[in-house]
Amino acid sequence: MGKIEFDYKQGFVAYPGGRSGPAGDKAPYVDLGTGRPDRTRYFSKEEADLEWQHLWMKTWAFAGLLQDIPNVGDYLRYNLGKESFVVVRTKTGVKAYYNVCPHRGNRLVHTDFGTTANACFTCDFHGWKYNLDGSNKEIRDELIFRPEVICDRPGLTQVSCDVWNSMIFVNPDPKPRLTLLEHLDVMPQHLEHYDFSRLRVLRDLEFCWDANWKTALDAFIEFYHADDVHPEAIPVSEMLECQYDLYKNGLSRMIIPIGYVTSRHDDRDTVNESLKMFVSIYGGNPDDYKHLKGYEYKQAMTDTKRKWAKKHGYDFFDKLSDDQVVDDWNYSPFPNMTINVFADSVLLQIFRPHPTDPRKSYYNAITLCLPVSDDTTQVLDLNSFGPESFGPAGWKGEERPARFTPKELSEFGYLLAQDVRRIPEVQKGLESECFKGARLSESEIRIRHYLAEIDRLIGRTP
Ligand code: FES
Ligand SMILES: [Fe+2]
Repeated sequence: MGKIEFDYKQGFVAYPGGRSGPAGDKAPYVDLGTGRPDRTRYFSKEEADLEWQHLWMKTWAFAGLLQDIPNVGDYLRYNLGKESFVVVRTKTGVKAYYNVCPHRGNRLVHTDFGTTANACFTCDFHGWKYNLDGSNKEIRDELIFRPEVICDRPGLTQVSCDVWNSMIFVNPDPKPRLTLLEHLDVMPQHLEHYDFSRLRVLRDLEFCWDANWKTALDAFIEFYHADDVHPEAIPVSEMLECQYDLYKNGLSRMIIPIGYVTSRHDDRDTVNESLKMFVSIYGGNPDDYKHLKGYEYKQAMTDTKRKWAKKHGYDFFDKLSDDQVVDDWNYSPFPNMTINVFADSVLLQIFRPHPTDPRKSYYNAITLCLPVSDDTTQVLDLNSFGPESFGPAGWKGEERPARFTPKELSEFGYLLAQDVRRIPEVQKGLESECFKGARLSESEIRIRHYLAEIDRLIGRTP
């Protein structure tokens, strides 16, 4: 391996000369210092309470997918800490309400997904009914109430809800400081050519970690851990020279270049078996690319994936740069989400606080794929990707799989299991008296970035 230079103010640039267009450009450096984050924010109840008040109740966060509520009257439940919300498709768009019946407080819906009967919600305690616009439709046996008790015809309490590229976001604040598009800053522009509406859910898992939501999130917004945790990726992807970008409102991104022999390897000419396998998965023939050296092999990946897109009818690939077609563009919209964007599949990860215990949190990993048009092509399940499995063949995405909770490590899928088993260990260690806060590299700067945004919202910094 040759000597690699690093200037922290420049960082590593994934696409020299702006070859991938403005969306791929390195963002200007933001100096977030060298301090060690206070470890207590990863387990203290006081910190969790501050976050609840200043962050969770006032910020946009991912609630679900438009694909999961295709018809008027379909709903999904979105639980966040001690609160629960119901998101419903109405004739005039998607709306969200507290999942609370104003009569005595019963939860209105009790399942993750469902369809209302007769376009209204019916509470299963005393039968009050609510229209999809949240207004009160019926109070059972109204005559037994003194009029003053119900004269305002109590309806559901609405919260802010908006949709970007098939992703539904909810902000409990009815008058948000920023619109959803403002909150997401450059991400919608960067991803304007991706059509997420064509993705279908391949896997959806939910898990309660023995770790604070931030401990879990931190493990997925840096790739510094990849050499140790994901050694299988070494032959096919960058580990060191990834690009880390910070944007407004806590948004950040990392670009993990894929599909060639990187500068970490002494022999960059030989095309390894993993690279050939990638080409084969997408229906290409490695023999067609024998003229390419290992460090040039991204051309083979690009060519193969573009042919794959043509074959299966995904014209939007024509608008993506070669780098977007092959690489992993990993965005983290503040505060609690990662979106790993590959052209043909997307991995969403959501990290939500536990209702009462800051040492626990809820995690969702949703794998989305573009369905294939024949019966043999495989789709890539990003979480289970590993030596023995990639994803199903001939997958049409017609049936939405149920959300499930893994009982064994192996049920997370090969790749994700590598991360999962480490996170509770990190939580235990950072609670030790000997630990004085993380020493973060510049490849872990996204951690500093979202913590700084939380500090701003809490009012610790201007
Ligand atoms: S609590 Fe809903 S109708 Fe009584
Ligand atoms: Fe990982």
